[in-house]
Amino acid sequence: MTTNNDQSPLPQSDLETRALELLSQMTLNEKIANLSGSTPFWSGLADILGGAYNRHTWDAGHTQRLGLDGIRFTDGPRGIVIGQATTFPVSMARGATWDVDLERRIGEAMGREARAVGANLFGGVCINLLRHPAWGRAQETYGEDSHLLAEFGVALTVGAQHHVMACVKHFALNNMENARFSIDVQASSRVLHEVYLPHFKRVVDAGVACVMSAYNSVNGQWAGHSSELLTEILKTRWGFGGFVVTDWIFGMRDSRLAMLGGQDLEMPFQMHHHRDLQRLVEAGEVSVARIDDANLRMLRMQLHFTQSDTVDVSVMGSSAHRQLALEAAQKSIVLLKNAGDLLPLRSDTRLAVIGALAAIPNTGDGGSSNTVSQHIVTPLEGVQAGFTQVTYDDGQDLERAKMLARSSEAVLLVVGYTKADEGEFVSPDTTSGLRSLFPAPTSPTEIEIAGLVASGLAARAEASGAFSRGGDRASLHLNSSDEALIQAVASANQNVIVAVMAGSAVLMNAWEDAVSAIVLLWYPGMEGGHALSDVLLGRVNPSGKLPFSIAKTDAHYPYFDRDAVSVTYDLWHGYRKLERDGNPAAYPFGFGLSYTTYAYSDLRLEQQQSSVTATVRVTNTGRNAGEEIVQLYVSALDSAVERPVKELKAFARIALQPLESKRVSLNVLTSSLEYFDELLGEFILEPREYEFIVAQHSADANALRGKIRLGERGDT
Ligand code: BGC
Repeated sequence: MTTNNDQSPLPQSDLETRALELLSQMTLNEKIANLSGSTPFWSGLADILGGAYNRHTWDAGHTQRLGLDGIRFTDGPRGIVIGQATTFPVSMARGATWDVDLERRIGEAMGREARAVGANLFGGVCINLLRHPAWGRAQETYGEDSHLLAEFGVALTVGAQHHVMACVKHFALNNMENARFSIDVQASSRVLHEVYLPHFKRVVDAGVACVMSAYNSVNGQWAGHSSELLTEILKTRWGFGGFVVTDWIFGMRDSRLAMLGGQDLEMPFQMHHHRDLQRLVEAGEVSVARIDDANLRMLRMQLHFTQSDTVDVSVMGSSAHRQLALEAAQKSIVLLKNAGDLLPLRSDTRLAVIGALAAIPNTGDGGSSNTVSQHIVTPLEGVQAGFTQVTYDDGQDLERAKMLARSSEAVLLVVGYTKADEGEFVSPDTTSGLRSLFPAPTSPTEIEIAGLVASGLAARAEASGAFSRGGDRASLHLNSSDEALIQAVASANQNVIVAVMAGSAVLMNAWEDAVSAIVLLWYPGMEGGHALSDVLLGRVNPSGKLPFSIAKTDAHYPYFDRDAVSVTYDLWHGYRKLERDGNPAAYPFGFGLSYTTYAYSDLRLEQQQSSVTATVRVTNTGRNAGEEIVQLYVSALDSAVERPVKELKAFARIALQPLESKRVSLNVLTSSLEYFDELLGEFILEPREYEFIVAQHSADANALRGKIRLGERGDT
């Protein structure tokens, strides 16, 4: 397997020999113990419920006798969740930057901070596909498109793996929140291989050390036990040489089924394996070979990613990392509307800032991805630092807000969601049925903890803040109080800019015509306020582009029931579905405005043995310097099978001065144009014409198009 850790102490073949040597020195008891987290179940649970989630690493596999440090896990993905870390914009915001080099640098920063808190495994590479914008954890992933997800997942992994092992999650089909512990997702092999898995494969090919299985069930098997996913696809078809880890506590339910399915490490507690695995091995129900295989996978990765030096804790939230968070926030802001070129504003504009969210730190989810930072720059603080005449109102009283709007030149309204509206969801309701999975308490202390859990400690912990609320969104619209505030303020001032804080698509049709400008601010991290101010002032030209489609109505998205017990995923979601159904988006995938304009010309296609290179001239035709994201979509013409109208296959981010022109090159592997044939069980490149479409976004009427025949001259 290929890896990206420059600092590996030994060449690949020596690593394998050393891993085998270590394995041969381990007793069966040690091998079995290493396949569970090292934290005892009841005390660990008491710790979590007492609010100690993410105060320390979650450890496994420490074997002192052999000098093995084991695995020390910390979470992500908006930063390291232990200590005073750097809080970056959430992954969805970073997806909107379309800047994979930046994501790699962010990965390096997170890897550095992970090491500074003593971790060697970073669990922040979340690349589940955004099938529906109501998904509570949408903010933790990068968007609706598999190619975009792959590029970002690879970049974060490669960056982080300069320092630590990375863990990509949640494998697979974990795209709903409330029902994640119970839902069965049905998907054909074509849907799996073409839509929901290719980005995982790309991250595996890039050398990720660890894959976290999902909570949900897939085609009737819990993902944490799924031989289809873990053994047949991940380990056999893709040749994954690293280890699989369960999602926490409820990610596997049976020791035998998990081991036989291809699960390697149960986390974070001593739970099923601790109780059952020894007996299962003695009874011949789980082979020693399987135990060895799981151990070997962990050993291999630990040896490969061993680090000889330490990282000082001063990197946590350092000014270099804050600067990176600022760059990400600046590049992530998507300008959706700018009527009459209201933006950018002068710094002495008499600006009213209205809305409660303007004045509170709002960095996203309150669950496992929650971070703690030194100081979060709110939108209000950022704007106060950039503008000279700012007045603030929380917008609770509509008449007062209108009065302020009337006496101001322009209004910045900050609205949207918080962790109360969307995010990770763990509730006594969804987990009470799972308590039967807990090991029986044995000691008096364990019996006491079990009693507390049963009598509602979980509910109290929930109420205390950790994992509070969140869940899948109830609606794709803003809260009604936000919508009323927008209408009220817009009736009093012509120059209203709405900044929306959210983790995925928000339907804006109820109010978008009433306001002049709209920006998607996301959950923008610790420097978000400064980034917003920079964009409003034109110090930064907005360049973010939507990593998903904003439809005109809920009805244009796939069916979504957050309480469903089963769901069938098909080929259709996002722009693929909108285009198939002939429903134009309100704001298409890949869309975002700028303070300048770009023109594309002179598209050329050149075929190589296994790829096609498209080159195009891009000119900045406006008066401001800017950064543009050039997108390449490909359409298989007259396909014999049902296929999307077109799909994103490449993109590039380029910087252009006014009137500057650059030739941009976009490379597409012909293998990425294949479809998955269910009967043959493999990918096929159809011999036909393919149309290459170079565009500013997925619905660009001025896109340049060129055709090329592929699949006939022995292209691979
Ligand atoms: C989440 C995972 C996370 C794990 C450890 C689970 O609740 O689903 O994404 O990595 O906790 O924090």
